[in-house]
Amino acid sequence: MSYDQDLELIRKDFPVVKKKIYMNNGSFAPIPISTIKAMTDFLLRYSEEGPDSTSVQEYITSLMKEVRDRVSHLINCDPEEVIFTQSTTEGINQISTGIAWKESDLIIVRGGPHEHYANYFPWLKVSEKFGVEVKEIKIDDDGFFDTDEIERIARNKNAKLITLSHALYNNGAIMPVEEIGKIARDNSVLYCIDAAQTVGSIRVDVKRIGCDFMAFPSFKWICGPTGIGILYCSKKSSEVLTPQYVGGESAILTDHRNLASVEFPQRFQTGFRNYVGLAGLESSLRYILRIGIDSIRKMNMKIADELRGSLEKMEDVSIYGPQDERLRTSILPFGAKSSDAKTIVSKLEDYGIIVAERDIEGAGKKKVVRASPHFYNAQSEVESFVKSLNMILK
Ligand SMILES: Cc1ncc(COP(=O)(O)O)c(C=O)c1O
Repeated sequence: MSYDQDLELIRKDFPVVKKKIYMNNGSFAPIPISTIKAMTDFLLRYSEEGPDSTSVQEYITSLMKEVRDRVSHLINCDPEEVIFTQSTTEGINQISTGIAWKESDLIIVRGGPHEHYANYFPWLKVSEKFGVEVKEIKIDDDGFFDTDEIERIARNKNAKLITLSHALYNNGAIMPVEEIGKIARDNSVLYCIDAAQTVGSIRVDVKRIGCDFMAFPSFKWICGPTGIGILYCSKKSSEVLTPQYVGGESAILTDHRNLASVEFPQRFQTGFRNYVGLAGLESSLRYILRIGIDSIRKMNMKIADELRGSLEKMEDVSIYGPQDERLRTSILPFGAKSSDAKTIVSKLEDYGIIVAERDIEGAGKKKVVRASPHFYNAQSEVESFVKSLNMILK
């Protein structure tokens, strides 16, 4: 089938396209009808057969296995290295609160307030609580940094962990995660990746990256529901983490008042999980794996580049982020001389176009409009977008 025929079929799966031009997938992506149905089917079965019946419990166990298998395909890890969380933030907090920090330890963070706060605040908290130093790496206008600087700091015997976003939430710049992975390995430093803006959008391979931990949600580029996320933790690195919570599903009593953790990864999953969310995530993973990440990447960039090309022709508009297509995702930030980002976002919404306003300089110093198209967006939507923007900026 041709690209246009494929796209036409895909668009039938996303009800939002009937009413809106939705280019805000960097915040929340819409979920396909098959996922809405999978979640409804789950709830019906849960209610008809009884939530704690053997059949429903077996179904939940099989769902967990399916999700673990699909995530392992998606990011190239073992199914047993997949921990179910609520969100990226929760996953990163499992790491920041799970390591036995010493006051002399050093954490290396890209850009400080230029990072997404989910991958900055947890480390500030560690610093506040344990006196650990958080070293913030200087960044250039596109959010990149000097890898030699990271290497220099990582050589310090107190360096304990490097943490990075895989792609930046504000301009889509793809960080040199494999290069930093090598530096982390060579210096025996733990390595944590916030992959909220990459899994489901570009190819992600934890083995190539060489990270110990990676957190991401279901609800962005995977097109899954909210309230469910994934923490990848390598088997080896799980030994340096103590679970943040403990309860009946994650520990057992070996003796009077003596607790022992159960096996990994279950010891990081105490309490019951968001099972309807898991059913949705399973369905959305199936959906995006069927299209294929390489096709998704191509489709995303086709639309992002068409939009970019049109915006470049508008005199009033400035585009942010890397020029080189290989160094960015489909996230496209822009500003205009004649209007502020908040007003543009709100006026675009009056035309039925959904995008977001985001920081481009960190700590709220400068805001831009962030468009973040995904594979189901069409060229006709780009044309309407540009027409509406021209009217707004006239
Ligand atoms: C890079 C990055 N990290 C973390 C988050 C927060 O994700 P969650 O809501 O899953 O905690 C976001 C959400 O926008 C993000 O873009």
